[in-house]
Amino acid sequence: MRILVTGGAGFIGSHVVDAYLAEGHEVRVIDNLATGRRANVNAKARLHEIDIHSLETDQVFREFRPEVVNHHAAQASVKLSAADPQHDLEVNGGGTARIAFLAAQHGVRKVIYSSTGGALYGTPERVPVDEGHPIRPLSAYGLSKRVGELYLDLAARTQGLAFTILRYANAYGPRQDPHGEAGVVAIFTGRMLRHEPCTIDGDGEQEKDYVFVGDIARANVIALEKGEGEALNVGTGRGTSVNAIFDALQRATGDTTPPLHGPPRPGDVRRIWLDSARAGQVLGWTPVVPLDEGISRTVEWFRANS
Ligand SMILES: NC(=O)c1ccc[n+]([C@@H]2O[C@H](COP(=O)([O-])OP(=O)(O)OC[C@H]3O[C@@H](n4cnc5c(N)ncnc54)[C@H](O)[C@@H]3O)[C@@H](O)[C@H]2O)c1
Repeated sequence: MRILVTGGAGFIGSHVVDAYLAEGHEVRVIDNLATGRRANVNAKARLHEIDIHSLETDQVFREFRPEVVNHHAAQASVKLSAADPQHDLEVNGGGTARIAFLAAQHGVRKVIYSSTGGALYGTPERVPVDEGHPIRPLSAYGLSKRVGELYLDLAARTQGLAFTILRYANAYGPRQDPHGEAGVVAIFTGRMLRHEPCTIDGDGEQEKDYVFVGDIARANVIALEKGEGEALNVGTGRGTSVNAIFDALQRATGDTTPPLHGPPRPGDVRRIWLDSARAGQVLGWTPVVPLDEGISRTVEWFRANS
């Protein structure tokens, strides 16, 4: 299958590219390297270093004639979205509108879209949060990802586009940017390997759902054939506190530097984890990498690559 992956030089997108290539598909990547890295892109995939808004993107659709588009390109930092909400609307909302309508126009069979479970629902009325939970994002990032979902839905209703939306929990694993604005596992791993103190926001008892990037990539492989018209949570159904992540990473790295404590993050959701039962029913997907194993694989990768 010819598959175009936007954002394929980024953390999650690059694992999706690897997984598609491993299945024997032909893969091209569109990425403007805003946060992505050329080194993340598998040598068997051709990288077009362009913006999803550019005219060249249309050219890639025309020339490559993708059967599936997997859309991962985005401004993915909640923190940055607070400073520049309009940028998120342009990249995540407008960018997804562009990809959805280009895909429809060029006869793409399906678009798979990386949405967010962690930043979409707002403060949960109940945990685990299922897909029927009210959608009340607390950040411009979460809202802009929702706008992307709605454009796909519009293209489906008006142009007959097929799509699957995957709403990820907090992803972690190899290649996550340790200098980025998000991703506590990567940030702490980077600091622990340099024996620098980690700063825990607030009391560290806030609990999130951490899903290993390899499990996410597998959901994207299954979604090539299943889950049409669905928006599906992709998480572990389990909450883990920042303090527990810190302890697990100290065990894995051998670092013993005590943590610092900072103020709680404004707008941070205190407790959220996702119910992914529907992904189980529709895709036959369940996460298989336990947190301790995912953390040791992540630390191993950072040791070898920093
Ligand atoms: N990391 C998470 O925990 C998480 C959770 C839920 C959803 N997501 C979603 O998954 C996707 C990937 O996130 P990530 O964590 O790998 O982030 P990332 O920043 O590593 O990946 C995003 C990629 O998109 C590229 N990009 C950004 N703007 C672009 C543009 N205008 N044109 C072309 N390329 C552009 C970047 O260079 C980067 O390679 C995003 O859509 C994000 O919203 C991530």
